[in-house]
Amino acid sequence: MSKQPIGIFDSGVGGTSIWKEIHALMPQENSIYLADSKNAPYGPKGKTAITELSIKNTEYLIAQGCKIIVVACNTATTNAIDYLRENYAIPFIGIEPAIKPAALQTQTHAVGILATEGTLSSELFHKTSLLFAKNITVLEQIGDGIVELIESGQLHSEAMRTLLKLYLKPMIEANIDYLVLGCTHYPYLIPILIDLLPKHVKIIDSGQAVARQTKAVLEKHQLLNPSTIQPNLQFFTNGNPKIMQSLLSKKFKVEALDF
Ligand code: DGL
Repeated sequence: MSKQPIGIFDSGVGGTSIWKEIHALMPQENSIYLADSKNAPYGPKGKTAITELSIKNTEYLIAQGCKIIVVACNTATTNAIDYLRENYAIPFIGIEPAIKPAALQTQTHAVGILATEGTLSSELFHKTSLLFAKNITVLEQIGDGIVELIESGQLHSEAMRTLLKLYLKPMIEANIDYLVLGCTHYPYLIPILIDLLPKHVKIIDSGQAVARQTKAVLEKHQLLNPSTIQPNLQFFTNGNPKIMQSLLSKKFKVEALDF
């Protein structure tokens, strides 16, 4: 079982930011990445639709023999992970906006959070926010249009800069000192965000924490792959493979798959 792959899915290409952290921490692990780009963005869809799509992705990965599933999508985690954990026997790792470290460390008592509508409106996010961000100002911003631009290969476009300037303006005016990235597509924006934000603003994303958690859970279940041979790394998308390929090194081959 330990040689079976880690399954990872996202609404699209964004979860590759998580895959990179997992691969960096556990280079010996086999993995299968599923980008459900055909159905992106998940953000504006309701909880039921997001859960149904998450079930479809999960069942595909389980059918491939995955030993654990990483839900590399904040929107799917905050809306569907409880259902998945209750209904499937394998371990699931999720990702949520890292509001806790930002709330604990802010000096200006104002933090920004950029995430999808589905994440910001979820019960899970509300609970975390209530618990950790009681005495600070949290500027929540729905990143409308960002996922669509990345999914259509316009990460470095002028349209992206314009959108980000608009979303960051109220945060900068409120003097935030932390910006939490609540969507796995957003780490790809970091160079642009650094350029647009005042120097003192720190950006928090949860990718490394998710990788560490994945390792800890594999260890606990004695599922770490002891093999030292080259791992089998598979990347599938039901969208345009070229766009996903542009986010990954050429040595990894992205394949088209209808799922
Ligand atoms: N990467 C997904 C997330 O982390 C994007 C969701 C979407 O498709 O809107 O939430």
